Amino acid sequence: MQPIYRSISRALGLLMSLVLFSLTQQALALSEQKLQAISERIKPVGDVCLQGEECAKNLTVAKASDEPRSGEQIYNTFCTACHTSGAAGAPIKGNAGQWKDRIAKGVETLYTNATNGVGAMPAKGLCSDCSADEIKAAVDFMLP
Ligand code: HEC
Repeated sequence: MQPIYRSISRALGLLMSLVLFSLTQQALALSEQKLQAISERIKPVGDVCLQGEECAKNLTVAKASDEPRSGEQIYNTFCTACHTSGAAGAPIKGNAGQWKDRIAKGVETLYTNATNGVGAMPAKGLCSDCSADEIKAAVDFMLP
């Protein structure tokens, strides 16, 4: 090969390497951006926060102070799961027909059964940190 061609081919080779190098750089930069966009898109929508965990400290559900929660608050947090739909045969809130025979046993019995559980009704309606007064208030709230 004549020297002139050799230098041309060297120059071309160098040019090709430069082009390849900068293309690769761009491709890498792009995929970094894409990765970020993807991880932004697939990140979880929300976090589960369980009672007692650090993140649940400020939830209104958790006991924030020694102030008793209202019957309505307790009901809407714990009892509604079963007593709004009648799940598992739970008497529906405010439904006079469904509560008649139960009320006939005496309200004290209802408080006791709500606290200790009866049949498919779990003790304290799963409100494990509910005080006796809070359970009573929740029962009063759901009675017709
Ligand atoms: C997991 C579902 C569930 C949850 C949550 C629940 N209950 Fe019940 N509850 C039931 C079922 C089922 C019955 C009917 C039990 C039976 O008579 O066999 C019932 C019955 C009752 C009764 C009537 C008891 C009786 O002697 O007739 C009261 C009062 C009551 N629940 C209060 C509550 C309160 C207050 C809460 C919330 C703090 C609550 N329940 C949460 C399922 C539930």
